[in-house]
Amino acid sequence: MICVILTLFPEAIKPYLEKSILGIAQEQGTLQVELVNFRDFSTDPHRKVDDRPFGGGPGMVLKPEPIFDAVEATERKFGPCHKILLCPRGRTFTQKKARELARQERLLLLCGRYEGFDERIRAGFAWDEIAIGEYVLAGGELPALVVLEAAARLLPGVLGCAQSPELESFENGLLDYPQYTRPREYRGVEVPEVLLSGDHKAVEEWRRNEALRLTRQRSDSA
Ligand SMILES: C[S@@+](CC[C@H](N)C(=O)[O-])C[C@H]1O[C@@H](n2cnc3c(N)ncnc32)[C@H](O)[C@@H]1O
Repeated sequence: MICVILTLFPEAIKPYLEKSILGIAQEQGTLQVELVNFRDFSTDPHRKVDDRPFGGGPGMVLKPEPIFDAVEATERKFGPCHKILLCPRGRTFTQKKARELARQERLLLLCGRYEGFDERIRAGFAWDEIAIGEYVLAGGELPALVVLEAAARLLPGVLGCAQSPELESFENGLLDYPQYTRPREYRGVEVPEVLLSGDHKAVEEWRRNEALRLTRQRSDSA
């Protein structure tokens, strides 16, 4: 998968890309990430990419020209991309969406800043508009990393055990069951006996019951 991230702060994203799952996926060659600063597409003498909103109001709005040019140059270079506009107005990101994105060959993620985008940017391309939750961040860089990591860890061969994503929370409608490792007792809390029994059927049943209990508990408290 190729993922191009359009951002005003590539240096804020870069260190995270080098670590853990995203770093491994790139080393393996499963993932290629390109950071594009759309300020480089500004034709303004001061490299401005934002301006005051028509009609007044607080803050600054991202201008259309540098973003149109950056998106078009990206697609000329890499080919047509599945284009994601990160914005609080978008559909809330889910594991199902992460799976759908993991099937794409090329992703383009556009990170906003300030008060957001000139509406013509929204209208000018076929965006998949994604919000990572019902809250407002200062920019789209963290949302881009959230979306990319959730999709990249589902790419074949990226996780150590190829089966593990299927067993995780949200994959089968259930939250994950509780896990324990050594020591058997820690600060007075014992590992449930069944997990030490060696009885695989009983372990499986206990895990399923726990997953059901936790899922029910969360939906009751929603
Ligand atoms: C301060 S926000 C703009 C908020 C916008 N004025 C609004 O009220 O919807 C600046 C940028 O951060 C990003 N952003 C903030 N919160 C986000 C969220 N929950 N999900 C995805 N992107 C978000 C978007 O790219 C957005 O354009």
